[in-house]
Amino acid sequence: MSHVVDAAEQWEEFVRERYDPNKDKENFRNYETATPGVREFYRLNHTFQTREFAVAKKADYSQLNRRQMSVWEAMDQLETVVDDSDPDTDLSQIAHNMQTAEACRRDGRPRWFILAGLLHDLGKVLCLYGEPQWAVVGDTFPVGCAWSDKIVYREYFRDNPDGQKPELQTRLGVYSEGCGLGNVDMSFGHDEYLYQVMKPYLPEEALYIFRYHSFYPCHRENDYQYLMNDHDRKMFHWVKEFNQYDLYSKSHEKPDVAKLRPYYEELVSEFLPAQIRW
Ligand SMILES: [Fe+2]
Ligand SMILES: [Fe+2]
Repeated sequence: MSHVVDAAEQWEEFVRERYDPNKDKENFRNYETATPGVREFYRLNHTFQTREFAVAKKADYSQLNRRQMSVWEAMDQLETVVDDSDPDTDLSQIAHNMQTAEACRRDGRPRWFILAGLLHDLGKVLCLYGEPQWAVVGDTFPVGCAWSDKIVYREYFRDNPDGQKPELQTRLGVYSEGCGLGNVDMSFGHDEYLYQVMKPYLPEEALYIFRYHSFYPCHRENDYQYLMNDHDRKMFHWVKEFNQYDLYSKSHEKPDVAKLRPYYEELVSEFLPAQIRW
């Protein structure tokens, strides 16, 4: 099971580099430094994330019929797919999740926001069901309308069968102006899946964070505004606020997982039942 989340790690590193605030302007959109693994990852992602694929995966995983488990079991499960031979990965998944949450806590963020920090990547348990990397992580984008020029490695869409369907290649495609993101199908991954799992339990602001935190073409590049409605724009305030913690909390010191665990157990049980459907 090792190497299963390799691309996940590499993708996150690549995203952090891309939006590094200290990076000079010239290099800002130069992706040449990306490792071959990242490029190959995007080639697969852009080739196979068709509208048909994304809609089918969403319908399938929305049933939440895979298993029943607690949040902590999900974290432990995720641990088993981490490649421990990777020298860059000195943090366990739980430590990584806690680190994000701790950064939120240090800044005095509300409790639901801290919890969102802890949970936001748990959808990666999709790896456990045998989903390939390109169906779990990566920047997300709407399927069913033209691909934004702001999507990284946009050229890799050249082999995506949706490119041959003119009705999916207009600005609005199957959507209407300002229809709201809730009516838009996104490329499938850990964002959409965790949104479906957490929908009954967390406030809407947290659900937006889960569902759109990898939607970089929108929350960082400000594209696809024409699909959003006013409510989305209001909620995206939180997606943007959250993004800084997602990107930049990794460099801080390692959290003491054992010491922090009671605090987070209490926080989790404030919002979630002991067992949830996945
Ligand atoms: Fe994520
Ligand atoms: Fe993350």
